[in-house]
Amino acid sequence: MSTQEFLAEINKRRTFAIISHPDAGKTTLTEKLLLFGGAIQMAGAVRGRKANRHATSDWMEVEKQRGISVTSSVMQFEYDDHIINLLDTPGHEDFSEDTYRVLTAVDAAVMVIDAAKGVEAQTIKLLEVCRMRNTPIITFINKLDREVKDPLELMGEIEDVLKLQCVPITWPIGMGKTFRGVFSLKDDKLVRYQAGQDRLTEEELETISGLNNPELDALYPMEMPYVRDSVELIQGATEPFSLEKFLAGQQSPVFFGSGVNNFGVQDVLDALVAWAPAPQPRATYTREVDPSEKPFSGFVFKIQANMDPRHRDRIAFFRVCSGRYQPGMKVFHTREGRDMKMGNALTFMAQDRVLMTDAVAGDIIGIYNHGQLHIGDTLTEGEKMGFTGIPNFAPEMFRSARPKDPFKAKQLQKGLQELGEEGAIQVFTGEFGNIMLGAVGFLQFEIVAQRLATEYKVDAIYESTDVSTARWLSFPDEQTKKDFEREQGPRMATDVNGNLVYLATSIYNLETTMKHWPTVTFFATREMHQQID
Ligand code: G4P
Repeated sequence: MSTQEFLAEINKRRTFAIISHPDAGKTTLTEKLLLFGGAIQMAGAVRGRKANRHATSDWMEVEKQRGISVTSSVMQFEYDDHIINLLDTPGHEDFSEDTYRVLTAVDAAVMVIDAAKGVEAQTIKLLEVCRMRNTPIITFINKLDREVKDPLELMGEIEDVLKLQCVPITWPIGMGKTFRGVFSLKDDKLVRYQAGQDRLTEEELETISGLNNPELDALYPMEMPYVRDSVELIQGATEPFSLEKFLAGQQSPVFFGSGVNNFGVQDVLDALVAWAPAPQPRATYTREVDPSEKPFSGFVFKIQANMDPRHRDRIAFFRVCSGRYQPGMKVFHTREGRDMKMGNALTFMAQDRVLMTDAVAGDIIGIYNHGQLHIGDTLTEGEKMGFTGIPNFAPEMFRSARPKDPFKAKQLQKGLQELGEEGAIQVFTGEFGNIMLGAVGFLQFEIVAQRLATEYKVDAIYESTDVSTARWLSFPDEQTKKDFEREQGPRMATDVNGNLVYLATSIYNLETTMKHWPTVTFFATREMHQQID
């Protein structure tokens, strides 16, 4: 491949995730996007997975469910001469640290808002994670075929709650039974709504040009005065779309539509191709890595373990940041300081696991391993470096853990240490050796319990605790640290890497302690791996 071809391959990539609150329409939108990408058979798989998501806690069921989720973890498809990598952000019962970490591996995100509900809790959390890297956000306001909130009110809500400047690119005409379509402010034309179409390309949709076109008044005499008023209002009140601000994560282009009716979906895809960035340079502890650099590099952002319960095999999801992956290549595992052969990386096109033959920056590959790879690990072609920005997130749910059989305390400790290092769950040890598990989603506890039982042969008893959130601590000097430990010892613990953590009983408790100790810094996230020497 010539340098020019290599660069063209990189610039073709768009790697993104969809963020939304459960039931806003993420699965539906994913399905429609895949239809446009021609990966039609995937659509069923996405739904199938959802139907399966209430699987019981039976181990094989969890396996089955997770087996399916692996195939839809990364969906690659072609659209308009681009290669789109859509990363799934597990939601509902699957919500876990993976949901957050997936967002560290994308270059853009599509935010789906249910127009009847507005901005919801999970969207707020996920957007906070996008903010950490100023990820550009495209907004899709969904379900306009229902009775929904006023679009002006929705825009105001996004701006107020999410502190994200909105620039409507389309504007809805009516809603629910009187939803007529959207007016494209960019192209100055009305795109008429037709319900229930499975695949309508832009060319197939009926359009009418010009906001003052009398044809519109003839068709929609009731709606047009209001539409003109609101278009005038938003055009006066909002800044024009700025690609620069969008790329800086400060401004979001907004589209209205109805996912289930495949209306407005192509606008989102076109915006991704036209505006979302190609793979971006990535920071390491030592320098920035450009996607066009020839040597291969990237990082692990997710681990899917125990695909086959008889083996300890797992798949590490790896984002390529530079160079090209080629089968059988030897890479340098920077945390362990040794070489590693990457024989059988996978990609997940359509429903099958296909052997990957080539991948460049922006692509995600799945690497089989037996536990050597942890979340946050960097692989290179020899350079000693570590990518930053793959953090641990402050857990919001806690369980204490102790072995059923007291003689198995060592096994439990070993198992949890390894699972903690891998990134499956967060493990904290208190002053008296008591173990506390922290997660952001309940499924994490379930998976860890199952893995401890099958991989480490230890059954544990898990109990609720009075801890409600945790913060990593940093002290200005040794004396302050000692004083803090004396006063707050029982509320402190260490994580698997030996870092000190404060375990708060409530946000109020946390705030009071923070006020009391103004020179101590409390971090809500912590980098997975520190600088490689
Ligand atoms: P999620 O992945 O974000 O959780 O949401 P999902 O796509 O599953 O959508 C949640 C529900 O909203 C689904 O209905 C889906 O059909 C519906 N939906 C999605 N987009 C639209 C839309 O544009 N208009 C309307 N009216 N509904 C929409 P469900 O009854 O829960 O599931 P299903 O039986 O329809 O599959």
